[in-house]
Amino acid sequence: MTKYDEIKAQLLSEPKVWLVTGVAGFIGSNLLETLLKLNQYVVGLDNFSTGFQRNLDEVQDIVTKEQWQRFQFVEGDICDLESCKAVLKHATAGDVNYVLHQAALGSVPRSIDDPINTNKSNIDGFLNILVASKDAGVDSFTYAASSSTYGDHPALPKVEENIGNPLSPYAVTKYVNELYADVFARVYGFKTIGLRYFNVFGPRQNPDGAYAAVIPKWTAAMIKGDTVFINGDGETSRDFSYVSNAVQLNILAAKAENSAKNEIYNMALGDRTTLNELFIGIQDALRDNGVDYLGEPIYCDFRPGDVRHSQADISKAQVKIGFAPIHRIVQGIHESMPWYVRNIS
Ligand SMILES: NC(=O)c1ccc[n+]([C@@H]2O[C@H](COP(=O)([O-])OP(=O)(O)OC[C@H]3O[C@@H](n4cnc5c(N)ncnc54)[C@H](O)[C@@H]3O)[C@@H](O)[C@H]2O)c1
Repeated sequence: MTKYDEIKAQLLSEPKVWLVTGVAGFIGSNLLETLLKLNQYVVGLDNFSTGFQRNLDEVQDIVTKEQWQRFQFVEGDICDLESCKAVLKHATAGDVNYVLHQAALGSVPRSIDDPINTNKSNIDGFLNILVASKDAGVDSFTYAASSSTYGDHPALPKVEENIGNPLSPYAVTKYVNELYADVFARVYGFKTIGLRYFNVFGPRQNPDGAYAAVIPKWTAAMIKGDTVFINGDGETSRDFSYVSNAVQLNILAAKAENSAKNEIYNMALGDRTTLNELFIGIQDALRDNGVDYLGEPIYCDFRPGDVRHSQADISKAQVKIGFAPIHRIVQGIHESMPWYVRNIS
C-alpha cells in the first residue's frame, strides 16, 4: 500500500474540510473532483478570472449527488482580505482543516504583458489567504509554487535548494510566495508547504486564448486542423506532468508530518520531453482518438522569459512525503485526449 493509498483510506473513513482556492480552474477543479470522490467537504473560492463555471459543472456531473452536496462554492477574490477571512470562518461544513491554495494568474507571457495584475493576485492575494489561514488556525496550508523560480540556474535536474534569478514577473511572484511562506514559519510558527509545479497538463486545462499552455493549445489546433506553432527550434524541453500527480502531491502535502513542513517540493515526473517529441506524442494520441492531423509544425522565435530546459529532481518529495507519481507523460496525454476531442469542435 502506498502512502497515498493509506491517506485516501484515512480520509474516506474520517472526512475533513478543505479549502481549494482557484477551484474553478484547471488544477483546482481536478483537486475538487478527487476530494469529492473521497467524500470530503470542500469549500471553493474563485473569481472566475481564468477559471470557468463549466469546470465546476463538469465535476458536478462526474460525482454523486451526495458528494456534490459536500461542496460549497464562494465567488470571491483573494485580493480582498475580508473574502479570504470569510471563506475560512464560515465554511458550512465546519472549521477548515486543510488549505490547497491554487488561485493565481498563471502564464509567463501574461505576466510580461500585465505585471501589475499578476502581482496583485499572486502576491497580495497570496499574502491575504496566508494571513487568513494562519489566523483561522488551519491544520495545513499547501500552495502552488512554480518551477519558474529556478530561473536562469543552469543545473539539471532542478534540485529545490538551487535557484537562479527569476526571468519573468510571474517567476518573481512565485518566488515571493516562497519567501513569505518561510517568513511566516519563522515569525508566526505557521509552517506551510510549497509545491513547485513543473508543466502540469490534463483535462479542463484551458485551450483558448493567448496565454494557453502548450499541450491544450496544440491539441486544440490539431483537432481543428489549424497550424501548430513551435517557439524556437523545438528542442526546448520540459518536465510535463499529468494532473493526477499534482493532485496526489497536494493531498500528501496536506497530510504531511510537521517535520516535512516549511519546505518546498518539486511536483513533476523527473523526465524531460522536447517540444518536437511532444508534437509527435499528441499527434499519435489524437490518432488513437480518431483525429488524424497531417500538418507540419511551423517554427518561430523563442519566447522571452522562457527557460531552455527544465527537468525536476523529485527525490525530496518521494522521500519526505511519499510522492509516487503514477502517470508517465505518454499515459497522461492518452488520458487527456478524449476530453479535448469531446470539448473542442
Ligand atoms: N498549470 C501549470 O502547469 C502550472 C505550473 C506552475 C504553477 N502553476 C500554478 O498552479 C496554480 C493553478 O494553475 P492552473 O493551471 O490550474 O491555472 P488556472 O488559470 O486554470 O486556475 C487558476 C484559478 O485561480 C482563479 N483565480 C485567479 N486569480 C484569482 C483571484 N485573485 N481570486 C480568486 N481566484 C483567482 C482563476 O479564476 C482560476 O480558476 C496557479 O497558482 C499557477 O500559477 C500551474
